[in-house]
Amino acid sequence: MSNTELDEFVERVRERSDIYSVISHYVSLNQRSGKYWGLCPFHNEKTPSFSVDAAKGFFYCFGCHTGGNVFKFLSLIENISYFEAIKLQAERLGIPLPTKKLSPEEERRRREEKILLKCNALAQEFYHECLIKTARGEVGRKYLAGRGITAETIETFKLGFAPDGWEVLLNYLTRQGFSAEQLEKVGLIKRRNDNSGFYDRFRSRVMIPINDVFGHTVGFGGRILVADDNSPKYLNSPETVLFNKRNLLFGLDKAHLSISSAGFAIVVEGYMDAISLVAAGIKNVVATLGTAFTPEHAKLILRYARKIIFCYDSDEAGQRATMRALPIVQAAGAEVFIVKVPEGKDPDEFVRHRGKAAFDKLVKNAASLIDYQIDYVLAHVDINTAPGKIQALQKILPVVAKVTGVNRNEYRKKIALALVLEESVVNEEWRKFSAYAGSSHQVVTKKISEPIDPLVRTSGETILRMLWNDSELISYVTAMVPLNSFAKVHQEILLWLKSCADSGKRPNDLNAAKELSAQAFEELSRILLRKIEERDEDDVHAFEDAIKGLNYIRLKKEYVEMLARAEEYMASGNPDYREKFFEAFKIKEQMDDL
Ligand code: UTP
Ligand code: MN
Repeated sequence: MSNTELDEFVERVRERSDIYSVISHYVSLNQRSGKYWGLCPFHNEKTPSFSVDAAKGFFYCFGCHTGGNVFKFLSLIENISYFEAIKLQAERLGIPLPTKKLSPEEERRRREEKILLKCNALAQEFYHECLIKTARGEVGRKYLAGRGITAETIETFKLGFAPDGWEVLLNYLTRQGFSAEQLEKVGLIKRRNDNSGFYDRFRSRVMIPINDVFGHTVGFGGRILVADDNSPKYLNSPETVLFNKRNLLFGLDKAHLSISSAGFAIVVEGYMDAISLVAAGIKNVVATLGTAFTPEHAKLILRYARKIIFCYDSDEAGQRATMRALPIVQAAGAEVFIVKVPEGKDPDEFVRHRGKAAFDKLVKNAASLIDYQIDYVLAHVDINTAPGKIQALQKILPVVAKVTGVNRNEYRKKIALALVLEESVVNEEWRKFSAYAGSSHQVVTKKISEPIDPLVRTSGETILRMLWNDSELISYVTAMVPLNSFAKVHQEILLWLKSCADSGKRPNDLNAAKELSAQAFEELSRILLRKIEERDEDDVHAFEDAIKGLNYIRLKKEYVEMLARAEEYMASGNPDYREKFFEAFKIKEQMDDL
């Protein structure tokens, strides 16, 4: 695909993308004074400061200073790259992607992956048939029946059985034309220690196919029938070109629609937990594959919903894993809640014994991130001793410090109550902690890096807004105002607008996103979305005033500098001081003319 083909593709997608309809999919928007307003999805707020200008194609949040065009919005909300956002939008609009020319190396890899997927698909069928149809599968059927797993669930998850034997799958798949190297590469067989050949990795285990989000089987988990100390309870496929546990969530291929419609995903630790919950009718469930929860997992889920509910085993290991996952999910921008399964059960046992309604209730009452973390600390520190109380406070305060608004008081009360401390003691510790932590507990907003004189800022904004609508004016502006009168970030936008005008291109959000720095792109979004009081944005007087304003400030700076120079000269006996005073007064005259 050539660059122009790519540009054309992007323009085609942009042309058919209406920023209002895209954003209103995620944010409820109300119309007010020609723009749309809503609660910002990128930070917590109670009054809307998130604004969309459908005609110009920009959005901007006046609270957290995030802004951009339709693709920037999608990339932020879906946690994908800018280009992935374009592709996603193209898919949604049914615009075909331009066909890409693959390098020979890529061609080879594609072909190999196809073969390996085919190999897994056949293995999955083989295990499945073996479970449901053969005498050798009898033990597997009995095992699953003993766990309350019905034929329907076996069908849904295509569960299988790996028969007892060293070369059963190996022989079957070699007869189908696969080489031992291919089978080894996909993790289904292992090389014998003495190098005399290969043997099946999975033997005498109930087989759980693990699929990617499209439903292709990329690996397997195999559960032993009777747990013993000699072999692991679950044996998983090794890491292969297809199978990477960091990037995979068991069940996501079946769950993603339910996750989208429910607005949240439930994350459990084990295959069997996910299978049981789905069998009970709770369908928005995924499981990690015996590894820690990764940022990649969070990203995967965030494509479908913003809310993630952890439901790990209630044992110590499960709770520790939960605590470790929380900052990862939070950093990814998800809303996190935690379900603690009572009576020391895992989700599978709980739902089998108590049913769907009871589990739904647990989910409905899920603890917030902060509540959960406070409870965790309180349960893990001896709070009956004075040092224990202090230790607990020291662990809890950094957590609670992240809370904003009225909740803080509630949490302070809660902590005081739990630790049997006077509220004033908690408040005092809190105060000390905040002093140390500086203002870091404030809502995180991006800083507008360069301090800009307010008049320079608003004048620059007015001029740039005008130029956006009418780029013919650019030569007038550059003739009237020296570039360095503008704020740095405005200079970048101005030069860019000039380059658009010079090359006869109409400036739009697409080339802005492509050609401006991230900071300038956000600033441009802000400028175009800014509420303009009374004055019309095409007001010529405002424009003239802005030009005067910038010149005035520049002259004032020159005037002050010149005066200082003159005084310096005078103090050091340099006779040129008269000339400097004279120049300063000339500048002053120009200022007065303005
Ligand atoms: P658990 O030991 O909690 O299993 O491991 P479970 O889901 O309760 O299984 P059952 O009910 O005894 O059958 C949770 C997850 O950890 C991984 C698996 O992914 C499992 O689903 N695991 C566990 C392994 O990979 N290997 C093991 O030996 C054990
Ligand atoms: Mn279990």
